[in-house]
Amino acid sequence: MEKIIDESLQGTTLTIEDKNANSKKLYIESYGCQMNFSDSEIVASILANEGFNTTQNLKEADLVLVNTCSIREKAELTVRKRLEKFNAIKKDRPHMKVGVLGCMAERLKHQFLEEEKIVDMVVGPDAYKDLPNLIQEIDEGRSAVNVILSKDETYGDVAPVRLNTNGVTAFVSITRGCDNMCTFCVVPFTRGRERSRDPQSIIDEVNDLWSKGFKEITLLGQNVDSYLWYGGGLKKDFEKASDMQKATAVDFSQLLERVALAQPKMRIRFSTSNPQDMTLDVIHTMAKYDNICNYIHLPVQSGSNRILKAMNRLHTREEYFELIDNIRKIIPDCAISQDMITGFPTETEEDHKDTLSLMEYVKYDYGFMFAYSERPGTLAERKMEDDVPEEIKKRRLSEIIALQRQHCQERTEQHLGKVQEVLIEGTSKKSDEHFMGRNSQNTVAVFPKENYKVGDFVMVRMDDCTSATLIGEAVGYSENN
Ligand code: SAH
Ligand code: F3S
Repeated sequence: MEKIIDESLQGTTLTIEDKNANSKKLYIESYGCQMNFSDSEIVASILANEGFNTTQNLKEADLVLVNTCSIREKAELTVRKRLEKFNAIKKDRPHMKVGVLGCMAERLKHQFLEEEKIVDMVVGPDAYKDLPNLIQEIDEGRSAVNVILSKDETYGDVAPVRLNTNGVTAFVSITRGCDNMCTFCVVPFTRGRERSRDPQSIIDEVNDLWSKGFKEITLLGQNVDSYLWYGGGLKKDFEKASDMQKATAVDFSQLLERVALAQPKMRIRFSTSNPQDMTLDVIHTMAKYDNICNYIHLPVQSGSNRILKAMNRLHTREEYFELIDNIRKIIPDCAISQDMITGFPTETEEDHKDTLSLMEYVKYDYGFMFAYSERPGTLAERKMEDDVPEEIKKRRLSEIIALQRQHCQERTEQHLGKVQEVLIEGTSKKSDEHFMGRNSQNTVAVFPKENYKVGDFVMVRMDDCTSATLIGEAVGYSENN
């Protein structure tokens, strides 16, 4: 299951290939969404040119970086605990420096540096190219901070070094920031205004990944359907673009088509889609190209029109259903997943029932569900009281999780008896004799290894399943191989 915030990955350390000439050690730990994990690759790549090799061993690090997430309070508390641990180690290794990257850096800059004095360096998500200067500052004994959010930084010119990966699947970021201002969400404040990356640099990166043996990419952004390239600059400034810029602009469906054509055997996924911005063009492009996977992550957050409005999600329940109907019509075997929040301010039992009935209508293949967590600075925090008691949030959450589990099982069972293409990503976690991979719909499948290898596209007959995993047997290579 592809997760927005994959719990099993939280706090993992990135390792990239050593350069012989490098003598300093970087320990970098990441939390939060895929974008953060992708950004950590960019950071490690920048620092590889500054004399740093990565290490998994905290105790030998010269520089410790933690790429942080602010999306829910729990995410921030986890990082705070880690910072305490780093500071304890620092007592024995006074020369070791600690830096905070990402969303918490943006949100808590002053607190970290001035009030709590628990870190040496604070770097926001648009300032990673400034790291060489900032490191020089801290090496000279000063604290360093850069949390400036940019109008045009997309890191299009930094080729991230990807290692410690399966060598088969990779993330390629295409937009940064978000302009949507959902009232519960801290992202627009921590990651800034929305901007898109030059399509040519995206295609170059995809071509490069293919030449290195990668077989699947996920185009990443907070709201990929809103992608719009018109020569650089913020999405909101598109109105002011010249006629020429407007006429030659590239939107998401066009980008998707270009990527699909550039590497016709590369599997393509994308995340995240926002219902209000997803167009029929995108769905038609998905249907047109076999290498674009039949899977859409389409967060809805609530099934109640009243709550959707309070969340500033700019669509109704009915419009969402229309989109779902269109997807099902154009791509009948498309998997769809959701993000859902329970206990948003003022949510009643009636609203909760609307969420359950919306889920019944869609029968999502997967889902990522959260209890509402009030975030400082958001519109909901400023204008609304966090008035749904914790036990009610939890009870509603467990109800939607239970329903999702049931739907997940039903959806997984739909694949049984079919022979589907699976891209082998690695050995199954549960058995050395089995490979694991995913079908187009993103459902995990496991099957005996035989003589296949990681990176092969194989046809797998699906014989059995658990609630979220297909169990099968390979019957040969796919045409794509
Ligand atoms: N558009 C982004 C959303 C990032 S946040 C994307 O790429 O997916 C991921 C999910 O976290 C959201 O869809 C939402 O369901 C959840 N979330 C965001 N803010 C939250 C909050 N304050 N409390 C609980 N869940 C939240
Ligand atoms: Fe957050 Fe809504 Fe953007 S959930 S990331 S403000 S689409």
